[in-house]
Amino acid sequence: MKKGENKGAALQKEKSRSSFSGKLGYVLAVAGSAVGLGNIWRFPYLAAKYGGGIFLLTYLVLMLTFGYALIVSETALGRMTRRSPVGAFGAFGKRFSFRFGGWINAVIPMLIVPYYSVIGGWVIKYLFEYLRGSTSSLAGDGYFTDFIANGFEAELWFLLFGILVLAVLFGGVKQGVERVSKVMMPLLVVLAIFVSIYSMTRPGAFEGVKYFLVPDFEHFSWMTVVAAMGQMFYSLSIAMGILYTYGSYIKEDVDIEKSTKQVEVFDTAIAMLAGLMIIPAVFAFSGGDPDTLQAGPSLMFITIPKVFASMGFGTGAGIIFFLLVLLAALTSAISLAESGVSTFEDQLGFSRRKSTLLMGAVIILFGSASALGFGVLDFVSLLGMSILDFFDFLTNSLMMPVAALSTCILVTRVVGLDKLAKEVEKSSEFKRKKMYCFFMKYLAPVCIVVILFSSIANVLGWISM
Ligand code: TRP
Repeated sequence: MKKGENKGAALQKEKSRSSFSGKLGYVLAVAGSAVGLGNIWRFPYLAAKYGGGIFLLTYLVLMLTFGYALIVSETALGRMTRRSPVGAFGAFGKRFSFRFGGWINAVIPMLIVPYYSVIGGWVIKYLFEYLRGSTSSLAGDGYFTDFIANGFEAELWFLLFGILVLAVLFGGVKQGVERVSKVMMPLLVVLAIFVSIYSMTRPGAFEGVKYFLVPDFEHFSWMTVVAAMGQMFYSLSIAMGILYTYGSYIKEDVDIEKSTKQVEVFDTAIAMLAGLMIIPAVFAFSGGDPDTLQAGPSLMFITIPKVFASMGFGTGAGIIFFLLVLLAALTSAISLAESGVSTFEDQLGFSRRKSTLLMGAVIILFGSASALGFGVLDFVSLLGMSILDFFDFLTNSLMMPVAALSTCILVTRVVGLDKLAKEVEKSSEFKRKKMYCFFMKYLAPVCIVVILFSSIANVLGWISM
């Protein structure tokens, strides 16, 4: 370990740096943070919007190559330095570029958690309505749009979600969170299988299954790649420093390659199940209407209620579904916010309480802007997007590629691929080492630069994707 921080702080941190109980504990923790709204809410709407099967194919290819290489790198760097991102970058140098690389990774989760909490608020609202038995009105056509256009109500539900997250951070009951997610995850899988079978067997749904699973190159556009890459970062919680932190908690006997594979399989399985619940339903209940396919963030809230309203046990299913989604969202939001809090504690030297208050202020400020962006603030258009979409675009399409690029540069130029491979080899043979080196050296930087420039050019209206 390099010097860099003063000794006292380093020692103290060493003491408080907990470890995962074992290999399985680590995989479950990473999978628990990976599975969230990204899988259930974000993946299906992007797949519907950006070409169905061709989006899925692009996503899978990116995940198995680029995503794989980045997860391995971030985890190994965390384990090597025993630091979260700002400290990990700082361990290799003091220049501005190192600080920038660390901070951009650390700031991303702070910008995600506010708008994530807005979606979390929508989920609570739907849960509440199912509990009241409003199953058929939720399935009505304008229901969702009317709800978010009433910015005041959306704001209240958002605040409720945000307060739940902050309460857990204040109370420090994270242990409980882990226990909850162990029970919740299997339940979520069972329910998702059940609902997706129901949805796929509705009349007309088969077209949707085809649209989602069979690649059609006619639907390909640059935006397919940009969106798929952003989603890959988002869903696997990469390019935002989280895995540095998790890597710093693991012991040398954890097989980094194998655990990466397990997390990827699990995360993708849940995303695909969500796709199979939602996209066939668009075809069965809206006749594959192109407008519905383009619905974006609202897609889950429009189609899922229609599925439930048509089933025998719809209200019960609605309650269970939104409850599980809520728990998945809460656990993810808690670890996103926790990462912000620990950055404040470690880097700014704030107390736990002060750090949590600061994180709370960030959540309420940016979250309220996102929640009200469909209501009283709907005149605000940032680069042609609503406030919520803007935060999503800013983090996923602009900042995460930069964060990923800084990790690539750190690994290839500073740490060295050999040294990184040695870290992985501490626990097991590095089977895909050659591929890994190729991805890090050539594929990743080229992809990132191309994507970054095309998303900027698209926003500025130079090209249209
Ligand atoms: N991957 C999570 C999801 O799919 C969202 C997320 C991104 C996240 N980064 C994270 C969760 C960091 C926890 C920690 O919803």
